[in-house]
Amino acid sequence: PQVCWLAPEQTAGRQKPYLYTQGQAVLNRSFFPGFDTPAVKCTYSAAVQVPEGFTAVMSATSWEKRQDNTFIFKMSQPIPSYLIALAVGDIVSAEVGPRSRVWAEPCLIEAAKKEYDGVIEEFLEVGEKLFGPYVWGRYDILFMPPSFPFGGMENPCLTFVTPCLLAGDRSLADVIIHEISHSWFGNLVTNASWGEFWLNEGFTMYAQRRISTEVYGLAYTCLEAATGRALLRQHMDNTGEDHPLNKLRVVIEPGLGGINPDDTYNETPYEKGYCFVSYLAHLVGDQSKFDAFLQAYVNRFKFQSITADDALGFFLEYFPELKAQGVDTIPGFEFDRWLNTPGWPPYLPDLSPGEQLMKPADELAELWAADGLNMEAIEAVDIVAWRTYQLVYFLDQILQKSPLPEGNVERLSKMYPKISKAQNAELRLRWCQIILKNNLEAEYSKVKDFLHSQGKQKYTLPLYRAMWGGLESARALAMETFSATAPQLHINVQNYVKKILGLEVAE
Ligand code: BES
Ligand code: ZN
Repeated sequence: PQVCWLAPEQTAGRQKPYLYTQGQAVLNRSFFPGFDTPAVKCTYSAAVQVPEGFTAVMSATSWEKRQDNTFIFKMSQPIPSYLIALAVGDIVSAEVGPRSRVWAEPCLIEAAKKEYDGVIEEFLEVGEKLFGPYVWGRYDILFMPPSFPFGGMENPCLTFVTPCLLAGDRSLADVIIHEISHSWFGNLVTNASWGEFWLNEGFTMYAQRRISTEVYGLAYTCLEAATGRALLRQHMDNTGEDHPLNKLRVVIEPGLGGINPDDTYNETPYEKGYCFVSYLAHLVGDQSKFDAFLQAYVNRFKFQSITADDALGFFLEYFPELKAQGVDTIPGFEFDRWLNTPGWPPYLPDLSPGEQLMKPADELAELWAADGLNMEAIEAVDIVAWRTYQLVYFLDQILQKSPLPEGNVERLSKMYPKISKAQNAELRLRWCQIILKNNLEAEYSKVKDFLHSQGKQKYTLPLYRAMWGGLESARALAMETFSATAPQLHINVQNYVKKILGLEVAE
């Protein structure tokens, strides 16, 4: 299942086939023989011969093209197996910074260059200032075919990203900042077991928001974090707070009834993990001291794989006065509880610096949820200047309040073409969720079009869940859309959708 072979129709250019690999979590074992566990690290080299007219790229320190269309790659730092990645296709590159270029199919390269020209270096520099040297040499970005199942994948030296990031206005750069943050958290200091995936993702969410705060300011970053919190809320509502996957430390066991590491890819390791790291920062009480700790943590464990006990042990060692106070056993906030008890985080970081951006969106959502619409008040709010994440936050509020009183969503749709006709994938996802929750059958084609246009797991699964939980006509839409798009979806995403639709999954 590991190597994804795409037919020409599954690429943006529709001319040539494409191949890519996605190693995380445990798929690389069917790509090459090796110890496919994040507990061990090694260097690698590869020789890849491709047909004329194709280019191969890998997550490697250096590469060169030899005769016979053979590409030679060498990764000179030790990495865990899941970070070995290969893509082959009709791809070209363009420079966007002193150590960065974008790679994409020729028809997307202009858009890719425009999206990130001159901005990547700043993210890298802020990351280095906060967390220490960037050790990987280059930081390049590969724009994948539309069926790529993730927003981004932090393959060292060469992040793989969904083409949905090409929004035209850099509004989805938080994904790039996230993948850059893995350069320290995940790729240098790695979770030793997928049962402690939050060590990768929770620390990375924290690092992402530290970089974002430096680059975009606290208000914007708190707004983005609030949309993350809404996703955690939705996830816990869907699964039930007590679900065993809603612990930071998940028990992964082989065999029947055991948890597949891929199933740990949900909001808990990300957003509850973020809350736990924020809680550690809160205990320290001083941002610059906590930043210094993060840098020391990276330095202490770089090129190693560690457990949560290692990380938390180092935290207490680094702050002996906190250790003496017994901060790891404060009732209700025990480190052990954070790790081993499912449910909503016992501590939430203060996001009130984002109020100035959230409040107008909250108020507007209130107006739209009312029985008799107060059009005068609604028309007085001008959303034209709102940033994408403000609109996302607004739509999350609308979704929470949905179904709205009869007719309101139709009026909202007419009033804000910026939302209902949006090209931005984050807005399209929310709009499709609103359509389904309000049973707006007249707009079902938007759901279908969106699912035909891309295959990101975090967009695909919530929409199938919503369709399956909706009207008979929504269920029919789900079946029809899945049978048309299944061959384009990544095998894992296919299987997750099948589970939602009650179809048989081959083991
Ligand atoms: N490493 C993950 C993607 C991943 C997780 C692949 C688990 C396979 C198994 C990547 O860094 C990630 O978290 N991507 C997010 C970005 C977002 C949090 C900004 C995504 O794809 O949505
Ligand atoms: Zn990540």
